[in-house]
Amino acid sequence: MAKILNIGSLNLDYVYAVPHFVEAGETLLASRRDVFAGGKGLNQTVAAARAGAEVCHGGAVGADGDMLLDLLRDAGADVSAVARVDVPTGHAVIQVTPQGENAILILGGANRAVSPETVGIALEKVGPGDILLLQNEINGLDHIIRRAAQKGLRILFNPAPMEKAVKDLPLELLDTLIVNEGEGKALAGDMDALKAAYPNQKILLTQGRRGASLWTGSEVLFQPAFPVEAVDTTAAGDCFLGYYAAALAEGLPYAAALRLAAGASALSVQRQGAAPSIPVRGEVEAFLKGTY
Ligand code: RIB
Repeated sequence: MAKILNIGSLNLDYVYAVPHFVEAGETLLASRRDVFAGGKGLNQTVAAARAGAEVCHGGAVGADGDMLLDLLRDAGADVSAVARVDVPTGHAVIQVTPQGENAILILGGANRAVSPETVGIALEKVGPGDILLLQNEINGLDHIIRRAAQKGLRILFNPAPMEKAVKDLPLELLDTLIVNEGEGKALAGDMDALKAAYPNQKILLTQGRRGASLWTGSEVLFQPAFPVEAVDTTAAGDCFLGYYAAALAEGLPYAAALRLAAGASALSVQRQGAAPSIPVRGEVEAFLKGTY
């Protein structure tokens, strides 16, 4: 079984229950606030670990990051490549509506202070053929992608949150580019242009409540989302990607990996919070068998 390294963000999520997203000039009363572990990186590591993968997390937290490290350890992840830096831990302010929709504001904090030394320590944990998961919430991605490619890692990159600088990254070194429709559009205009721009990459398009499509180069696979009642969609995409990576690490075929990932994310949207909403493998298997 291949190992997974995820060099990614770790956030404290401040989650506010609101009747609707706050509008410009409006002061809005939230009915509650919860603090959860989150960050796209941490969520994906937790998902991969709960799926049963051997996973190491690389990144950085400040003095206030213990809760995040404890959660990663409890999930079974190796946190020895997470540095403690003199910058507050990254955080997110998340509004969640009664329909389960979210709007997220993030401050990078320690996630923007990931040093080349920390990256070097993290990359020592894996070897050729292993999987590297990346998102766009940390600094140093150009360096990380180039070093990981030299090392023969299979790089799965999810450029979220999208920004212009993503286009300048060496995306041609990726194994798989993972985008939602907005990110795909921002990168290339439309899916055909995206596929033409990155002809040697697999492209995984996540389509929220519709499902996900994977272009492997030789075939196109579509996995519909399972119809469930969502209470909070935060981290549903991260849960999907962590499970997908874990399934690939196990050697499952793409179709089976997509189905497992869709099952995991269907369970996660029925629970509150980011990392706490991510199910364990047994729950996902039961859901897929109809016995959950
Ligand atoms: O994808 C959800 C995550 O995005 C949240 O946990 C938040 O921290 C932001 O990184």
